[in-house]
Amino acid sequence: MTGKMLARLMLLFGASLFLLVVQSANNNNNVCPGLEHGTPPSGQEAVPDAATYDAALKALDLQAVVADLQLLMTTSQECWPADFGHYGPLFVRLAWHCSGSFRSTDGRGGCGGGRQRFEPERSWADNTNLDKARGLLWPVKEKFGDGLSWGDLFTLAGTTAIKSMGGPVTEYCAGRVDDPDGSESEILGPSPEQERDAPCEIDGKCQKPLGATTLGLIYVNPEGPVAQDEDGKWVPDPNPTRSAADIRDAFGRMGLSDEQTVALIGGGHAFGKAHGACPAGAGPSPAEQVSNPWPGLCGSGKGNETFTSGFEGQWTTEPTRWNNEFFVHLRNHNWEKHMGPGGHWQWRPTNAEEGCKVAGLMRLTVDVALVHDRKYAHIVRDFAMYPRKFDHAFDKAWFKLTTDGGYWSKERKCISGKQIPSMRSDDDGDHLAADAVELLAVQQHSSVSPIFGVSVIFMMFGFLGMAFLLNKHVFGSHAADDDQLLLHLADDDLISS
Ligand code: HEM
Repeated sequence: MTGKMLARLMLLFGASLFLLVVQSANNNNNVCPGLEHGTPPSGQEAVPDAATYDAALKALDLQAVVADLQLLMTTSQECWPADFGHYGPLFVRLAWHCSGSFRSTDGRGGCGGGRQRFEPERSWADNTNLDKARGLLWPVKEKFGDGLSWGDLFTLAGTTAIKSMGGPVTEYCAGRVDDPDGSESEILGPSPEQERDAPCEIDGKCQKPLGATTLGLIYVNPEGPVAQDEDGKWVPDPNPTRSAADIRDAFGRMGLSDEQTVALIGGGHAFGKAHGACPAGAGPSPAEQVSNPWPGLCGSGKGNETFTSGFEGQWTTEPTRWNNEFFVHLRNHNWEKHMGPGGHWQWRPTNAEEGCKVAGLMRLTVDVALVHDRKYAHIVRDFAMYPRKFDHAFDKAWFKLTTDGGYWSKERKCISGKQIPSMRSDDDGDHLAADAVELLAVQQHSSVSPIFGVSVIFMMFGFLGMAFLLNKHVFGSHAADDDQLLLHLADDDLISS
């Protein structure tokens, strides 16, 4: 038995105990127990002072956090059943929406600060049902305390989710400093401060310095940019060409290139599904009903009766496995718009064989937009043909997305040990801690107490099976997975753009 194996088993053992605690605390089937921590009713919460946070972060065992997140992710809970038995896609969306508020126009926004827990961000329409994700993560925050900031927890949950579903992420940095309330996000709107300093004349056509075209959304309207209907009302227009222009404008305000934009959209939508079971809506936001936000007005409001965005369906045939299917199907099928069950325009393939899995897939107008713009379409073609190019681009773009913005502790640490210049910190001139942590590949822990070690030997037989499975599915090399997961296209399979 190698020390590495022993350390791995200890992590699994600790994580399993932690899950038992999570499960036993989860006795209210309607509201996840962590709701009031992920979405504090008072709208504020004290944060540790810099010295306390720095010391706690230095001592934080990121490997142990990752192990707990991995188990939490595949343990569906009654309060919010996991689609496909996996919270990974929900956590990816959480990390993306927390990070996607960043704008390069003035450096405001981003996940650093963890302000998605507070107004105004927590009540943005785009953040519907993310109160559930934050609540599910509370036991991890509770266990690791001050050293694990909410900003780190949200981004690490998304990053671990991608990795555990076979994705190509290679870097993660911890050390985002939390804010005690949402005041730093007031300027992002909607708020009197934003109306004063950065008014948006037509919602859906908001200009710089605002990061999004629409208040309360991360970037652009998924259904398409707004246009005036016959009554002069501004409504979403499912026009992919105009949508592409909107995407370039909005992603550009965040400092993202075309390649990064396409990689992020196709990589994000490799996972999960959209939720719009019926047109009734999600119900009151946290600003309107903080004790039970967005209860959902379609039946039980959860599982297959969930309403989040009002679109319905999944993008790929394997929504909890990383691959480049998003691009392959986008190119290989014609997509037609139709009114979905949630009352919004969405797209379905017209030339897929009836009854086959692809026939049931969906696209948003923003997805279809990627083949209605010459530059985007070339990148889509590349990513459909060369999966490793897609992997590489996504890896870099995801890191940028989740790392931009906010303030960082002087004890911040990255898995590679590299110094990241974009990390602002209050302590000018400070450098990244040299003691890099190895996060996504488990390594030997030298500080194992002998008594604990002996106890673990007795218990590890019960966990050997689990260790084997996790080793295969989570820690297995990405290169090995590639051959099974990624679709490879022959040149003549491609539709010329
Ligand atoms: C133009 C930009 C984008 C738009 C308009 C958009 C829009 C949407 C919408 C409407 C949903 C459905 C939400 C629901 O009903 O549950 C969704 C889901 C999702 N999005 Fe995006 N998205 C964009 C980009 C991204 C990016 C960049 C990522 C991550 C890198 C991402 C990751 C996800 C994931 C993982 C889900 C599935 C969540 C789940 O299964 O619960 N999206 N997106």
